[in-house]
Amino acid sequence: MAYSHIVVDVKGSVGIIRLDRPKALNALCAELFVELAEALDGFEANDAIGAIVLTGSKKAFAAGADIMEMQTKNYMDVYMGNFLTGQEERISTCRKPVIAAVAGYALGGGCEIAMMCDFILAADNAQFGQPEIKLGTIPGLGGTQRLTRFVGKSKAMEMCLTGRMMGAEEAERAGLVSRIVPLDDLMDEAVKVAGEIAELSQPIVMMAKESVKKSYETTLREGIMFERRVFHSTFSTEDQKEGMSAFAEKRTPEFKNR
Ligand code: CAA
Repeated sequence: MAYSHIVVDVKGSVGIIRLDRPKALNALCAELFVELAEALDGFEANDAIGAIVLTGSKKAFAAGADIMEMQTKNYMDVYMGNFLTGQEERISTCRKPVIAAVAGYALGGGCEIAMMCDFILAADNAQFGQPEIKLGTIPGLGGTQRLTRFVGKSKAMEMCLTGRMMGAEEAERAGLVSRIVPLDDLMDEAVKVAGEIAELSQPIVMMAKESVKKSYETTLREGIMFERRVFHSTFSTEDQKEGMSAFAEKRTPEFKNR
């Protein structure tokens, strides 16, 4: 499929989506969101894909929702159109793992879609921020909620109230990103990690992902019970038998995604 604002590629069992609107620093226009959702749908439906990497350019992962598109919208446009409530959130409903490989600016909606991914690998030049306050608005794709859960109230509040950007090191210290990688190694590392995940049992990976995500949506006791039941259910799979047998027999497991 030919896209205008993204580039889609496959490396082994890893699906790669690169945001590609260089003239607007990958600002997230409506068409880009449609293309992104379509690409994700395609990878989700493709049994040969075990994990997905979402990235941008070296200068910008994405500099936010498209301000030029938003500037003339009024309240009725966004309320009645339920603006940003649909395919803009598609990443957050992906069942396969999605890794954000972030270099350069991840601002506003860019920071928010990175946070919808399962984890963020950051290049050493990455800059995260929710600068909407400077535009007379607030984050609209989950920024006030996810950032607060990921980095805590004080830092999230400071960033949302001032629009200050946070560099890669601060983001790693705060727990927003899993690791920092040198800029030139970012994609190799992201595809390598995604490839390692894709080698594992897809259904078990999905169950692990679902269980970690549950921790943001429930009480500790309920979350632990959810995890326990999912853990129990892994014992009904062929892949759990294979994984444990292979360990006991000192060989590499051959998962069948069953
Ligand atoms: N929307 C539309 N266009 C954007 C954009 C955005 N979010 N961010 C950058 N661009 C465009 C610029 O207008 C410029 O286009 P022209 O060359 O046609 O003038 C081009 O990208 C390059 O940008 P700059 O010249 O500004 O580049 P810079 O290196 O000087 O600055 C920057 C980089 C600091 C990221 C700056 O571009 C900037 O502040 N961008 C806006 C960031 C922002 O406010 N994001 C939040 C958007 S609102 C949002 O996302 C709401 C939500 O929660 C969903």
